[in-house]
Amino acid sequence: MEAQEREKWILAGKAGKTIREYAVSLVKPGESLLRLAREIEKKMAELNVKPAFPPNLSINQIAAHYTPKFNDEIVLKEGDILKIDVGASIDGFVSDTAATVVVGQNNNDLVKAAHAALAEAIKVAKPVGKIDDISHAIEETIRSRGFSPIVNLGGHGIKRYEIHEGDFIPNCATGSKKTLRKEGVIAIEPFATTGGGYVVDSSEVQILMLNNLKSPRAKLGREILDFISKEYHGLPFAKRWILEKFGKFADLELKGMVNSGALYEFNVLKERDNGLVAQFEHTLLFDSGEVIVTTM
Ligand code: CO
Repeated sequence: MEAQEREKWILAGKAGKTIREYAVSLVKPGESLLRLAREIEKKMAELNVKPAFPPNLSINQIAAHYTPKFNDEIVLKEGDILKIDVGASIDGFVSDTAATVVVGQNNNDLVKAAHAALAEAIKVAKPVGKIDDISHAIEETIRSRGFSPIVNLGGHGIKRYEIHEGDFIPNCATGSKKTLRKEGVIAIEPFATTGGGYVVDSSEVQILMLNNLKSPRAKLGREILDFISKEYHGLPFAKRWILEKFGKFADLELKGMVNSGALYEFNVLKERDNGLVAQFEHTLLFDSGEVIVTTM
């Protein structure tokens, strides 16, 4: 890998870590998710990075893909299990990292299980290593502590301007013989739950992504699509960002673009049995046989 490219992956990771830690430090009872998201986004701007995707702030049974909506009114309560999943982009070189906090508390076995699973997974992650070794480490760690791994969520390959690319790294052993890339970037993200370990789509959608450049008929729609393609380069974005910029009528245009196939929706993911969910995530760079956890 070229030195310049390596440097950008590492800087994006460092920014991701700073942002994650900053977000965690702000969590307290009474804090609103919208304020938290805005603080995260402000921090990113200060650090001169762009969001690789909207900050995911998912509470309790919600596993992922919730970002505050326009005029969001959700406020954190003592005991809420909050997953903070953030990504920083520097010219499309991205990081992806997550932590779980129990609001107002700091001793929770579910959270510890997900945290330990990530640590065990990182120990066995190596270039051309077996993906199943990671899956096995995650599953074992979580099950031995009396919880379930979420089987249909997992780690993933990362490429420039592509948050989910190539390898899928299941949170459960599958017996697969597939190996990891020799060089490049992956994210490992164990999810532990008190439920059965399966997420389903809820009907709510707050995160979208460009799918194709099929142009809407209305002028406002065309302006929005043009903005999305230039500003996000195919990375996921928040509905809220578009409504804040273009006004609330943009909502109708976004719906039209979803219906025409121009935009892809990320449904908010919920644990099927309403189990509580904890998650941790780091980004790893493989370069010349070396493993660098960029977000640690
Ligand atoms: Co990820």
